[in-house]
Amino acid sequence: MPASASAATTAGNAVRWPRLDSIAYGGDYTPEQWPEEIWAEDVRLMREAGVNLVTVGVFSWALLEPSEGTFDFGWLDRVIGLLHDGGIQVDLATPTAAPPAWFLRAYPQARPVTAEGHVLGGASRQSYCPSSPAYARASARIAEQLATRYGQHPALTLWHVHNEYGCHVPACYCDQSARAFRDWLRERYGSLGDLNAAWGTAFWGQRYGTWDEIDVPRRAPTTVNPALRLDFMRFSSDAFLDCFTRERDILHRLSSGIPVTTNFMASSCKNIDYWRWAREVDVVSNDHYLVAEQAANHIDLAMAADLTRSLAAGAPWLLMEHSTGAVNWQRRNIAKRPGEMRRNSLAHLARGADGILFYQWRASRSGAEKFHSAMLPHGGTASRIWREVVQLGRDLSALGELRASWVAAGAALVWDWESYWAVELEGHPAEFSYKERISAFYRQLWRGGVTCDFVHPEGDLSGYRVVLVPSLYLTTPRAAANLGEYVASGGTLVVSYFSGIVDASDTVHPGSYPGPLGSLLGVTVEEFLPLRAGEQVRLRSAGVVGPGLADASADASADASADNWADAWAEMVHLAGAETILSYADGPAAGAPAVTRHSFGSGQAWYISTRLAEDLLGRVLSAACADAGLAVRADGGVEVVLRRGDDHTFITVINHQDRTAELPVTGVDLLTGTRYGTRLEVPAGEVRVLRQDSGS
Ligand code: GLA
Repeated sequence: MPASASAATTAGNAVRWPRLDSIAYGGDYTPEQWPEEIWAEDVRLMREAGVNLVTVGVFSWALLEPSEGTFDFGWLDRVIGLLHDGGIQVDLATPTAAPPAWFLRAYPQARPVTAEGHVLGGASRQSYCPSSPAYARASARIAEQLATRYGQHPALTLWHVHNEYGCHVPACYCDQSARAFRDWLRERYGSLGDLNAAWGTAFWGQRYGTWDEIDVPRRAPTTVNPALRLDFMRFSSDAFLDCFTRERDILHRLSSGIPVTTNFMASSCKNIDYWRWAREVDVVSNDHYLVAEQAANHIDLAMAADLTRSLAAGAPWLLMEHSTGAVNWQRRNIAKRPGEMRRNSLAHLARGADGILFYQWRASRSGAEKFHSAMLPHGGTASRIWREVVQLGRDLSALGELRASWVAAGAALVWDWESYWAVELEGHPAEFSYKERISAFYRQLWRGGVTCDFVHPEGDLSGYRVVLVPSLYLTTPRAAANLGEYVASGGTLVVSYFSGIVDASDTVHPGSYPGPLGSLLGVTVEEFLPLRAGEQVRLRSAGVVGPGLADASADASADASADNWADAWAEMVHLAGAETILSYADGPAAGAPAVTRHSFGSGQAWYISTRLAEDLLGRVLSAACADAGLAVRADGGVEVVLRRGDDHTFITVINHQDRTAELPVTGVDLLTGTRYGTRLEVPAGEVRVLRQDSGS
């Protein structure tokens, strides 16, 4: 059974899914922006669209507590009552992502400060310091008020704490944060001696003699100690997490039985370590927005969904926000084309979401996001978007059977926020984008039709045929041992360059690169040889692996269709037990191995020492998958994802091409009832969801 199927537990409790009898459908609802006469129409239209869950109150702190300690819940009582009468469940938010103007005026020291020392203003949102005692008191008070008043309300099915922790303000550099950082460091290191050793403070004479000398990594003349910076990122993620757990514990205490979530930005937020956070929520929920101008952005969507499901340990999760059309915060806000929002929604569903919600229900007329799309556009119901919203509501209600089924994944990609932080610090052989590397590997899996989970480097790998490790710069001894055990017991591992370099304190592992991964990979790396911008090196096959690689030739005329080149990075690799699959034909590492494979125990460990051209990376990964007996199909631009239930398997097929696709897939179409006996035809841009008996 893949690791994704294991039952998720959070904070020691079994996951408590919101009380809903179908797939959740809805969005952020902001009745406070509208006159009350509109509310009844909202509920009527929600029913028409099949909406069954709305998120209420996200940014309404200033309305609920107009002055400190004075509360006005009348309007919220009426809204929740109306929703309840209309049969619509409520995901009630604590409004703590937008402290009111009175709060910022009364507690100016609670405003966030940047690394440059700028104090951030209000009239916006997310303006608070996560380590501020005044913010802690005020946010706890409003959460307590809400929980006391609505904790047992029959409409309440989910608590939504705050909104996108860490958004806009990834860290605060004020003096209160500095004090909290020092406390966090005392807890982590116990003694200053250990801290000095871990941070390598002998370098540039940075030794600390007392705890009070330690500061947050404010803007300095040049590079700030990287180990300090790494710890400050850990601390900042934890400081926000403390804000979440403070509110969550109040809600659990006063509103027992109602699950608590907070909306993640799983694949787009660098500064929050969601592996740590996922353990603390009752239900994982995620916000995802397409980068509208990016080609094939549906692959990025699939990656976000797979990462979110993995954070939920395979349990159902909620797509808390996405958009019906354009957003308003990209350079050019390209509208979704007809059918695109449906494909997006059903792709999230296929990858494990049991709820599809949007930002937002009704488009705002004022404020920063008035040109952001919504379920109900400014023009109202006489619109394509509204018609698509109503259609999606029907589709989701017909797809209820998919609920609580689990996604089958044969491969895993290692994703680690700590390594992400560390690899992008300054002073490295070349600038590095962690997400660019992860995405490059993910794209090849997607194109090969391989569904993957994401795993922490120290997580359980035992259920996967193939595990990919793109550039795990920070590799703990435990992670290295975990990867080694996986291969020794028969797994196939693919590790790429600049892995195994430093420990958790950003200190280079002793001996040759790749440190604790050397014996597993059967190579040593003598030197990093980053390439000039635009420089390419050619690669040549050693002829031991085929097809696709055995014929890889550095001579472009020998195989004009193949991109047998790499760029950005090369390494002087020496074999220490591994065999060469591809070697450098030219460039600074000419003649040296570029891609290797090592038999280790009962498994195989591949090493890729350079940034392979996309097509070549695809061929290398296909060869590794072939080693592991994992089928890879040619890129057809057709997404096929399986969810398995107790009695049935559900197959979602999404045709992203501009021509009809034909696949040897059988089953009953859940949306039309049509039975497909031999082949399935999916018109361009269309989606089919089929049910098969499990085992068929
Ligand atoms: C985020 C926020 C929402 C809204 C949307 C706009 O996800 O959570 O409040 O600002 O972005 O895309």
